[in-house]
Amino acid sequence: MSILSEKHILLGVTGSIAAYKAVDLASKLAQAGAQVDVILTGAGLKFVTGLSYQSVTGRRAFTDNDLWGNEAHILHVSFGKTADLLVIAPCTADTMAKLAHGIADNLLTVTALAATCPILIAPAMDGGMFDHPATQKNLATLKSRGVLVAGPAEGHLASGLSGKGRMLEPMEVLGHIRIALGKHGKLAGRKIIVTAGGTQEALDPVRIITNHSTGRQGYALAQAALDSGAEVCLITTPTALTPPVGARVISVKSVQEMLEALMNESADALIMAAAAADFRPKQVSREKMKKRDGIPQIELEAAPDILKTVSSSPLGAGSGPPVGRKRFQVVIGFAAESQDLLKNASEKLQSKGLDMIAANDITANDSGFAVETNRITLLFANGTKEILPLMSKAEAAERIIEHTAKLLE
Ligand code: CTP
Repeated sequence: MSILSEKHILLGVTGSIAAYKAVDLASKLAQAGAQVDVILTGAGLKFVTGLSYQSVTGRRAFTDNDLWGNEAHILHVSFGKTADLLVIAPCTADTMAKLAHGIADNLLTVTALAATCPILIAPAMDGGMFDHPATQKNLATLKSRGVLVAGPAEGHLASGLSGKGRMLEPMEVLGHIRIALGKHGKLAGRKIIVTAGGTQEALDPVRIITNHSTGRQGYALAQAALDSGAEVCLITTPTALTPPVGARVISVKSVQEMLEALMNESADALIMAAAAADFRPKQVSREKMKKRDGIPQIELEAAPDILKTVSSSPLGAGSGPPVGRKRFQVVIGFAAESQDLLKNASEKLQSKGLDMIAANDITANDSGFAVETNRITLLFANGTKEILPLMSKAEAAERIIEHTAKLLE
């Protein structure tokens, strides 16, 4: 179940042209299973009507008219008490000022003042307004009270100028919402490292040897770990995917680079979802190999086995963990197999010293590389196993993260 499903999100929309992005945000939240109640300020209503939000959330949007309606005496109080999160996106300089000073002159600011749930704001305004000492002071006041702040970004502003003041894109705000909701999850206070993507082994400055991995399962794992409140480091090869908001990203290409990145880290758990090469060219040509020189004979050598190396790496060296502590308390691997799935996976579980391995049959059309779904069997060091049905990679990631949390207990 996604972190957003069955969550009650209050989305406050104030008077900024970025209000059009809030419709998309409301739509994404609703599609992810959240119950979204939109509260528009008078100025917000001037940019986009309540009907637009109603169309994407399936629920009527609230305006200041409701402040003076029949349910007025309870509306703002119940909203702020029942919601899991109050998100104000876009949040203008004016609304930020009102929040900072406890001014409650419209349904949204009354609700914010009465709210017992966390508040997340996504500021949107012209650069000069954001940099203004008054706004900066208000921002600091709000942060000191625990209000979460997403953005703003630098870039083109409605004024035609360029500067800091653009509201983050809806996907980014969504990422911040996920972090806010997952803050006290099962992995709160834990650090998780996830590797993702297919490694690239250079033949010459132009050519590489790589594999079909898209990184989707690894990125989904990083997101699921963030959803559970973990501090996440994503060590990734180049992919077409956008890393989840909140993950610290280390970009690598080859097995050697991935190994070196890991040897500089320590964490509660390592999840090796990357499809790392087993072989690499023995020699990398410094110049581009030319056709006129004939068909090259490429000699391969064994690439280091990352999992075996990190699980037996010396402790306390360099920037590694303190002496006496394992570099990674729990280590989880993947087994991509085209035959003898469970036998091969169980051998890898033992030979690589893993706590758990996720075995997937890469010959199935709906599992493995470059598809949205996975069919995984989890094998554990204590000899038990769990067969997961066909599910999305996001769901598979949630299950693996649940087990990671249990293994860490
Ligand atoms: N792995 C690794 N270092 C490598 C290759 C793989 O750490 N050089 C990790 C993978 O990230 C995965 C696990 O080992 O978590 C199993 O990878 P897989 O490719 O299935 O198995 P291999 O050990 O490479 O063995 P084979 O290719 O012979 O099946």
